[in-house]
Amino acid sequence: MLGALRLLLILKPLAYGVALVCGLILTLSGFGPGLLGERLQGFLLMAHMGSVPPFLLSVAFLSVTCAKQHDLRERMTLGSLCFWLLLGLTVPLTLTILLSMFPLTGTEGLNALLGLHESIALVFVVAAVLYVLLRVRSKATAQDESQKG
Ligand code: HEM
Repeated sequence: MLGALRLLLILKPLAYGVALVCGLILTLSGFGPGLLGERLQGFLLMAHMGSVPPFLLSVAFLSVTCAKQHDLRERMTLGSLCFWLLLGLTVPLTLTILLSMFPLTGTEGLNALLGLHESIALVFVVAAVLYVLLRVRSKATAQDESQKG
């Protein structure tokens, strides 16, 4: 039991780190080309796709290990709302690309799927920044209180 707890204490910050770094790579590689009037292709597309598996794995791990502390029935906080929104958005964020890989829709449908991926990605990034800021603030407040205490 103690071993599992120790493992969790190591894996959780590691998963947060991986999610943060991959999220940053996905955001810069996703929105960067568009800001320069270009499309996501070549090395940046490889960086984007290469970040997806560790990103989704760390999000899945955090969704299981952090669900309890973000239980909205116990406490409804903005941070917890962001947590569940991020988890919820990860599904359509991935599905839009998976569906675009099948010849189900014509070019118009493909562009619509990519447009949807980009819009969901924008909401995801805003919610992620808010979640990280709130986590940092709550950690700083907890630290202050423990020092005063
Ligand atoms: C935080 C997460 C993510 C962000 C911020 C993000 C952002 C973006 C943006 C802005 C684009 C459009 C680029 C363009 O049109 O030039 C894009 C394209 C793409 N994204 Fe993501 N994305 C994320 C997660 C994912 C995931 C989870 C997958 C895979 C399952 C994925 C796969 C792709 C692919 C394949 C493209 C290129 C589509 C194409 O132009 O053919 N992205 N992403």
